[in-house]
Amino acid sequence: MITGLIIVLSYLIGSIPSGLLIGKIFYKTDIREHGSGNLGATNTFRVLGKKAGIVVMVMDILKGTLATALPSLFNVFGLTMEWNIHILIVGLFATVGHMFPIFAGFRGGKAVATSGGVMLYYDPIFFLILVAAFLISLYLSKYVSLSSMVAAVVAIIYSLFTLDPIFIIVVLLLAGFIIYRHRDNIKRIRDKTEPKVKWF
Ligand code: G3P
Repeated sequence: MITGLIIVLSYLIGSIPSGLLIGKIFYKTDIREHGSGNLGATNTFRVLGKKAGIVVMVMDILKGTLATALPSLFNVFGLTMEWNIHILIVGLFATVGHMFPIFAGFRGGKAVATSGGVMLYYDPIFFLILVAAFLISLYLSKYVSLSSMVAAVVAIIYSLFTLDPIFIIVVLLLAGFIIYRHRDNIKRIRDKTEPKVKWF
């Protein structure tokens, strides 16, 4: 019961469509109808500007962090999961919610920020390594999408060194989601039509 509740809550937290909420409430804009059409922080930056982009990025990261913290938060109230499910698996459901949000017609984002939020809770140093990989790649390439995938590949390599099977499987799944969800970006990078950021 508690395990199921935590998993459903994780999915629902991940499903909160930050980009859609900020866009519709403050800018009367559905960001999915503009730019890349993606419901993520990058497209929010692109369509609505820096302030909205940062807010959506923070919200999307925190969704993953909060969802992964759910088992500990429940424990505070004396509620323990019947099946001892790894917190990374709990966090994984938030990323699924972010990609396929029940509150936004199952058209969500590309898994980057929410996956980052899961890792931020699980291993903050690992999270910082991924942010560094992302920023170095962004500085060199000016492509957010490519840099997201570079961070995903760095995550896979790092995870393999831990020899922790659950960590490796979850990282492979999250990185796989990220790369698969960027397939249109990959085509655009190849065609040289992917937009580059000008502000970094
Ligand atoms: O996190 C998504 C980012 O890597 C790419 O977003 O809008 O350029 O497809 P977008």
